[in-house]
Amino acid sequence: MKTARGRQREPRLIDLHPPHADMRADVLAGLAMMPKQLSPTYFYDEEGSTIFEEITRLDEYYLTRTEAEIMRDHLPEMAERIGPGAAVIEFGSGTGAKIQQLLGFLSQPVAAVTVEISRAHLETAAYRQALRFPHLEIIAVCADFTRPFQLPDINGARRNLVFFPGSTIGNFTPEHAGQLLGVMRSVAGSAGAVLIGVDLVKDTASLEAAYNDRKGVTATFNLNLLQRINRELGANFDTSAFRHQAIYNRTAQRIEMYLVSQSHQSVRLGDASFDFSPGERILTEYSHKYEVEGFSALASSAGLQTAQVWTDAGDRFAVFLLEPDTG
Ligand code: AVI
Repeated sequence: MKTARGRQREPRLIDLHPPHADMRADVLAGLAMMPKQLSPTYFYDEEGSTIFEEITRLDEYYLTRTEAEIMRDHLPEMAERIGPGAAVIEFGSGTGAKIQQLLGFLSQPVAAVTVEISRAHLETAAYRQALRFPHLEIIAVCADFTRPFQLPDINGARRNLVFFPGSTIGNFTPEHAGQLLGVMRSVAGSAGAVLIGVDLVKDTASLEAAYNDRKGVTATFNLNLLQRINRELGANFDTSAFRHQAIYNRTAQRIEMYLVSQSHQSVRLGDASFDFSPGERILTEYSHKYEVEGFSALASSAGLQTAQVWTDAGDRFAVFLLEPDTG
């Protein structure tokens, strides 16, 4: 395909056939647990993704804005540290804006690779990137990035850079975050690097405000999970009988999000039914926060050493450049 400004390459699509999530089985298993829980991966249907975009623009939700500020202030230095000829590998398809900002500063990047489990999201992201970067090789890998996978050969890459912005690492327990960092290390290879955004520990009031915004957008995001289960699985959750709750657990260094039942109620899903007592909670998300030293230690346990850390003036958020520990 030709564009007015020159040659546009077709994205290269590589399907590693990841096993598909079985939402019905996961929801049934989660609601049968004590305490009840639902996986945050199910937040992101079309509706949930749109609401999340709205969250990122909220006054109280400082994460996205602060990370963007760090990137804006330090991109030339980051690009210098990363060096020329990088293949940038994004875990998850994101909105594309962050990888676009990064690629704009890197010296002679050779490829943009998106790794994503949903083929539909992946194709949209790949075509969007092909339009934005007509001279770059665009590679779309359909894979579950939380498990080890084989990256395709990338022509001319001097260095693989795994990019994982947004503090999504915080939505994994430290144990799973360590495993994910291990996957990143192996995808980066011995000459590679990882650029990752991490939300930092701070005062409880700021943290709780970020997940209990005044407009109630986060509450809508949380409750959409029940609506999605109704829409897609035919359950009969009465969403007005549940309330959003987000609290900071200082010992575990994480925001915990729940949906709290407001009454005695019973919910049907197919042949199964689940009883709720008043005040009973469904755990829907953890969002872990780290001290700089704590995250460096976690990365180090996965074989990655901290090459550099950039933070904002208020030390609210950090962007880490990690490199494989070859010693
Ligand atoms: C995607 N992730 C980093 C968000 C977070 O802050 O943990 C998800 C989120 N949940 C509620 N608000 C935002």
